[in-house]
Amino acid sequence: MYKILAKTLFTGQNLIFVPECQSTNTLIAEKTTKSALPEGTIVITAHQTAGRGQRGNAWLTDAGANLTFSLLLKPTFLQAKNQFNLTRAVSLSVLDLIIEIGASAKIKWPNDILFNNKKICGILIENTLHGETIQQSIVGIGLNINQKKFEYPSASSLSLICEKDFELNPVFNSIVEKLEKRYLQLRSGKTEELKEEYLQNLLGYKQRRKFIAEEKEFEGMIEGVTDSGELIIASQNNMLSFNLKEIAFIL
Ligand code: BTN
Repeated sequence: MYKILAKTLFTGQNLIFVPECQSTNTLIAEKTTKSALPEGTIVITAHQTAGRGQRGNAWLTDAGANLTFSLLLKPTFLQAKNQFNLTRAVSLSVLDLIIEIGASAKIKWPNDILFNNKKICGILIENTLHGETIQQSIVGIGLNINQKKFEYPSASSLSLICEKDFELNPVFNSIVEKLEKRYLQLRSGKTEELKEEYLQNLLGYKQRRKFIAEEKEFEGMIEGVTDSGELIIASQNNMLSFNLKEIAFIL
């Protein structure tokens, strides 16, 4: 079904396609526990029956219309306290693809990819720690490509944005290349560049916006994101920091 034509060193060179599975993140984790898979292995499916999202949400997409895959990385060079650098690299690789396609998008902290405030890609990164370093990362990507109708009005797809359908395999190969490029940038220590590019593409960065925390609405300005992934917001002369479960955006 999917063929790797990407000119990569390791990303996607071991490619496992399954027509259907519950979740590619779960499947790749099970497979690598049974017998170690090489770094860069990708599990891709046409249909997830129990796709998983952030905050314990489900990830629901039509069979055969979109890209749903998981990439196994071994960023043992990355300290657990700096793990958000991987999120930055992965988010930027999705933006690289979208720019190549001729569209534009923003990153909604931590790693939702939005076009006109509608989500076109979700990323679920699951890290396994070994002491203070990361032993393995499973990077799950759900990129909406040809789906036209969504259960939630806040979701969209590349085909709705660009008003045309896409062949999945070329888009898959392209994103695989982008993922490797950004991962190699991270591995070579170029974290300041990644940090800067992430902020330049972050929705609401240095803009006054409304948020909800502890069931209260407040106004503030995003000042940055820490290397461990907390969102920093300046509000009424205070610097506040939030993790994923503590804050929601009002779009
Ligand atoms: C989000 O909530 O935004 C993250 C969604 C991540 C979905 C992808 S699809 C491939 C991989 N397998 C999963 O079960 N989830 C991720």
